[in-house]
Formats: sequence, C-alpha cells, structure tokens
Amino acid sequence: MASRKLGVIGGSGLYAVDGLQDAAWQTVDTPWGAPSDQLYCGTLDGLDIVFLPRHGRGHIHSPSDVPYRANIDALKRLGVTDVISVSACGSFREEMAPGDFVIVDQFIDRTFARAKSFFGTGCVAHVSVAHPVCESLGKTCAEAARQAGVNVHDGGTYLVMEGPQFSTLAESNLYRDQWGCSVIGMTNMPEAKLAREAELCYASVAMVTDYDCWHPGHDAVEVTDIIRVLTGNADAARRMIKALPALLSAERPPCPQGCDTALEHALITAPEA
Ligand code: ADE
Repeated sequence: MASRKLGVIGGSGLYAVDGLQDAAWQTVDTPWGAPSDQLYCGTLDGLDIVFLPRHGRGHIHSPSDVPYRANIDALKRLGVTDVISVSACGSFREEMAPGDFVIVDQFIDRTFARAKSFFGTGCVAHVSVAHPVCESLGKTCAEAARQAGVNVHDGGTYLVMEGPQFSTLAESNLYRDQWGCSVIGMTNMPEAKLAREAELCYASVAMVTDYDCWHPGHDAVEVTDIIRVLTGNADAARRMIKALPALLSAERPPCPQGCDTALEHALITAPEA
C-alpha cells in the first residue's frame, strides 16, 4: 500500500497551520510556473502534511490569478496523494449559516478566465468529473469538522464564479432558485478538475462567511461581516485539520472511487508518430 501524504489548500483567512512537527517552507518549481507560495511541509501526529496558502501569504493572488496548475503540480511533485481544499463561500440556503461548513459534492463551473487543464496541444485527454470530489475523503473531513465543534452539512452544490466582484441580485436568485445551488465561491474550479487530472483525491470544505445578496436580511455582501466570520472559520479549520490524523491511516488503500486511477479511464489522444 502507498503511504499517504495529505495536501491542504488554505483559502481566504487560512494562510498557515500550526502544530506540524519537523516543518519547513519549501520552494517548488513547476513547468506551469511558480505556485501561489512556498509549501509548508511537516507531520502531524504521524501524518505527512503539505500546506499551501491558495492566495499566497499576504493574499497576493486574486481568484482569477491563482496559479491553479502550478499549485496542483507542486503538490503532486511533493508526493501528495489526497487534497483537502478549504475555502470561504457565500450561502444560498437559510440553514447553511455563516460559521457552518459544507462538504461540497457537486460544482457548477462558471469561470471563464483561467487555464483549466494540464492537457492540450500535443496530448489531449478528457477525464470524467461527473463525480468531482472524493466521497470518502469528504466523509473524513465532515467527521473531523464535527469533532472540531462545527455545524457541518453533508453535500451541496458549489457555484464557482469568476469574480472578483460578488454576484448581482439576479445572478444570486438564478443560482439559488433555478439552479439549486447551495453555496458560491470563486476558487474551487479549475482546482477540482486539475486534481482529478493529476489523479489526486480531492475534497472541498466550504466555510460559509455570508448569505450572498439574495437573503432579505442581508441585501449585500458586507466585507466587514465576512472578515469577522473568516477569522472564526479559520480557527475551526485549524481544529478540523488537527483531528484528521486520527481519522486517516498513514498507509493509503486504493481510492474506492478511482480518483487515483482517473487517467486509466480517460479518453486520451496522443499525436501520431
Ligand atoms: N466568498 C465568500 N463569500 C462569497 C460570495 N458571497 N460570493 C462569492 N464568493 C464568496
């Protein structure tokens, strides 16, 4: 059995993790350019962990400018097998309140200004993203978050918008009423698609900061509210991460869903010799 190395991609508010042993920031170069930042590598109670702040320390990359391909490539190069994405989101559901975590199981990708694949000219590949997250890794995150005292929702559809502006009221109502989305954010795509192309298990923990603008009691996204909730959410995320080693074996069985063999089932066309 392969050994497990857990990658954690921290979103807005989560720029560092604490408690790692033998930890150091490591520079990794990739054919796709530099990742968002150095990667913080260490162990937590016997589990190898690599942490990457998605926006960089100091929040220097906007959602459209995050080097998604370099980030996933760097994690893969360091031997990461499983990726937990932690990100802030707005909520379309009354019951998914600020401070709650949603374990995302579907996405609608509305981004349009980002490179979305490792494949292209020279080698074309089409992988399935019908089930875009790893169910078993998601369940583990849900359990860890509950142990951390968080109110957790199992499953939800995450609308990924380009940003950087928030949605108009018409868009917010469309995504909520017509498209049945649960939460909205700006960063999980193409990250999830790239993780699948890289044959990494990927789970998304969406931390609710606000009700977007559809909610009668919150008719605009208030940045001061978001920042206040973000801090509490980041603390909860750090508690969740500390609960993970007891729930994830250091040895890693094959993914029951086949995330780790996704390319074996992909449609791939290499150029003719
Ligand atoms: N991130 C946090 N809140 C958000 C919202 N309402 N829309 C898009 N991204 C967000």
